[in-house]
This record gives sequence, structure tokens and C-alpha cells, in this order.
Amino acid sequence: MRLPRNDCEVLEVIGVKIPNKFKHNNGPDVILLTHHSHSIEQGATTLKKAIITGITGQDGSYLTELLLSKGYEVHGIIRRSSSFNTERLDHIYQDPHEKGARLHLHYGDLNDANGLLDVIRKVQPDEVYNLGAQSHVRVSFDQPVYTVDTVATGTLRLLESLRSFQEIFGKSIRFYQASSSEMYGKVQEIPQKETTPFYPRSPYGCAKVFSHWITVNYRESYNMHASCGILFNHESPRRGETFVTRKITRAVGRIKLGMQKKLYLGNIDSQRDWGFAGDYVEAMWLMLQQPKADDYVISTGKMITVRKFCELAFGHVGLDAKDFIEIDPRYFRPAEVEQLQGDASKAKKVLNWTPKVGVEELARMMVESDLEQARREKTLRDAGHELPANSGHDQ
Ligand code: NAP
Ligand code: GDD
Repeated sequence: MRLPRNDCEVLEVIGVKIPNKFKHNNGPDVILLTHHSHSIEQGATTLKKAIITGITGQDGSYLTELLLSKGYEVHGIIRRSSSFNTERLDHIYQDPHEKGARLHLHYGDLNDANGLLDVIRKVQPDEVYNLGAQSHVRVSFDQPVYTVDTVATGTLRLLESLRSFQEIFGKSIRFYQASSSEMYGKVQEIPQKETTPFYPRSPYGCAKVFSHWITVNYRESYNMHASCGILFNHESPRRGETFVTRKITRAVGRIKLGMQKKLYLGNIDSQRDWGFAGDYVEAMWLMLQQPKADDYVISTGKMITVRKFCELAFGHVGLDAKDFIEIDPRYFRPAEVEQLQGDASKAKKVLNWTPKVGVEELARMMVESDLEQARREKTLRDAGHELPANSGHDQ
């Protein structure tokens, strides 16, 4: 059978009966596959393939859960490491030997163009989400060249791989770029929206501006379906422990149980628009489901200081933040982004996206989770077991 697709491409297709155990809620009995096993949209049917760079990170893990729940086959690119770095995926890991496994991991690196093209050739995805990055702003001042190579040139390597794959195979792949509110840096208007000029204040911010514009450029030059999500800070119990919210909630759990005395922070007057990562990955997916690629701000629209976040987190366990916080200038940045507040009205209008979790609920969720983690650590310690030492390189 030959079917015209949205983009008027004509593809060879075959009908495949889905065994009961792989069927999704209200899914159909039969789906249509191309001769490359690519997906064809047919009502609610999807057997799409997605590649995620940065799958082992906070957002990568939430996005993987979301895509698996939507019936995707998910392929993650992970860096080879001498120790395990897939902790955030352990709960959804699927043994690739099992029939019907829909989560697959491939070694690769944004600094290695050949490897990226190789994975794209093997998987032949419908969608690619570029979440991989050296994503810590303070660290980007210590490792500017590495950060720019991974964040900026890394994005270009991936786009080039996609472009050459599309040229050879004639299949268009939808692309998501993880742009950042850090690009607004020294903000030129409040709140920030898609049209606000960028003024980055760190090597990381500068690199993200490049990856943002190169994505727009590939969209306009090669007619690629490439979208940028300008995401404001988003957090969760899976947030890396050196980002300020998680550093705070980890400390709250440990201080409450008597395992830590003080919390050392840098600039607690800076203000951020904090949302929940689980809400934000939905926006990423929605962007790639639009007929036309575009760029969107994703934010809650509310901004509070780091100090206020501390008060919320400590307050949740009945403690006063002031009794535990000390300022340590080593956490100051050479140039600071003082305030960020987003205006996500375009995403609301076009994507019908709104955040569900506010900052109070977010702080509560993170404190509860870290209190539980601290309890586990205390149980081990009280039973005479050694805990992994904090290596003291937090930022
Ligand atoms: P994250 O937790 O720091 O995760 C970063 C991911 O990138 C990890 O999987 C990491 O792998 C991977 N990675 C690092 N260097 C790489 C390389 N050279 N090649 C391939 N992968 C590499 O970050 P996140 O919070 O999930 O953020 C996801 C993306 O959104 C990032 O691009 C970030 O810059 C951007 N962003 C985040 C926020 C936010 O508030 N969270 C806001 C705006 C934009 P390892 O596990 O091996 O280190
Ligand atoms: N990390 C950290 N550690 N930040 C601190 C500390 C501290 O001890 N004390 C104060 N801060 C302040 C920082 O100076 C900054 O103003 C604010 O807390 C938030 O810092 P981070 O949590 O490290 O996040 P970020 O805003 O710099 O960057 C995050 O959000 C960006 C989006 O705006 C990262 O996730 C980036 O990858 C992301 O693009």
C-alpha cells in the first residue's frame, strides 16, 4: 500500500498486528509501518522513535518517561563512564534482550560527530531532543572552552548529522533544542519573552545563544522542523545536587536529622522563575507535535529570591533558614544573572501549555524526597556503615 504523508512524501507501508501485551490504552489492533519501520500517524496510533541526548540528566529522565508513556521507542545517547551514570533511569530501565523493550542506550558524545551520525543512521528517528550539555553556569567559568565545545559546537555537530542524514535518506526528522533563560542574562525587559534581546553573562549563556541561533538558522536554511524551547529554571527531586534548589533541599533533610550543621551559599538575593521539570518536558514534546517549528518561552511567570526558596524549604520542616545559612564568596560568579522571569503566553496560546506545579509545591516535593534520602543515610550511618563522603566540589 502507498500512503501520502503530511509533507506529501509517499511511503511504502505494511500493516502490523499488535500483540495484546504491547498495546497501549485504547490503542488500535493494527498499525502501519514504513519499510524502514518508521512511524506513520494514523489517528491515535504512534510507534515513533526518538533520540535523546542528555538522557541521563534530570530532564532526560522525565522526557523518557513521558515518551515511553506515549508509546515511543526511546534511544538515549550516553557517555561512557568508568562508573554507572544511569541512576535517574534505573526505575525505567528495560533489558534490551527482552522482546518489546522500548528503551535503548547507545554510547555517544556531543563532542564526537561521527558517533552522533552513526546513532542517527542506526535508529532513523522521527524526533531528536538535544538535552545534552555541561549545564552548570558556575562551572562554565572554570571550563569555558569545554562548555562551548559541548553546548555550542555540540549542537552544530548534531544538526549537521541530521542534515546529512536527511539529504541521503530523504526523511525529515523533528529537532528540539534545549535553549535557556540564561541567554537573557542581564535582562533587557521584564518579564522576558521570545522577542526579548539576549545578553548572556557566562560562557554557558554565550554557548546557548549560539546553539539557539544555529538551530533557527538550520530551520530557515534547510527547511528543518527545528524548535527551541527557552526554558526557565526547572527543578525536581532528580535535580543535580550542585544546583541551588537541590543543594538547599538536600541540606534541609540532613540538618533536620542532625547530619549537617550549616548550609554555605553564594548570592542569595538573585531571583529565579522556578518550575517543575515534569511539567516542562511536556512542553518540549508539544513543540515537536506542531505542524510548524517555532521557539517558545516556558516558565511559570513567578519569580522569587534564593533566600525565599530557603525560607520555604526550611519552613517546611519547621526550621528557620536564618539559623543555618552562611555566605561563602566562593559560590559567587564572576558575572551574575540577577533576575529571570518568563512570560509563557505564546506557549499557552499555541501549545495549550501551562505549568501545574508552583514553587511552594515544588519546594515541598523536593524537601520530602530529600528528607527520605537523609533518613536512609542516617539508618546506614547508625548501623555503622560508611556513607560516601561529600567530595567538597559543590558549586
Ligand atoms: P543535567 O541534569 O545537567 O543533564 C545534562 C545531560 O547532558 C547529562 O545526561 C549529561 O551526561 C549530558 N552531557 C554532558 N556533556 C555531554 C556530552 N559532551 N555529550 C553528551 N551528553 C553530555 O541538565 P538538565 O537540567 O537535565 O537540562 C537539560 C538541558 O536543558 C541542558 O541542555 C540544559 O543546559 C538545558 N536547560 C536546563 C534548564 C534547567 O533549569 N534544568 C533550563 C534551561 C535549559 P552525564 O550524566 O554523563 O553527565
Ligand atoms: N549553584 C549554586 N550554588 N547557586 C547558588 C548558590 C550556590 O551555592 N548560592 C547562590 N546561588 C545562586 C546563583 O548565583 C544563581 O543566581 C542562582 O542561585 C541559581 O543558580 P543555579 O541553581 O546554579 O542555576 P542557574 O540559574 O545558574 O542555571 C540553571 O538554570 C538555567 C536556566 O536559567 C541551570 O539549570 C542552567 O543549565 C539553566 O540553563
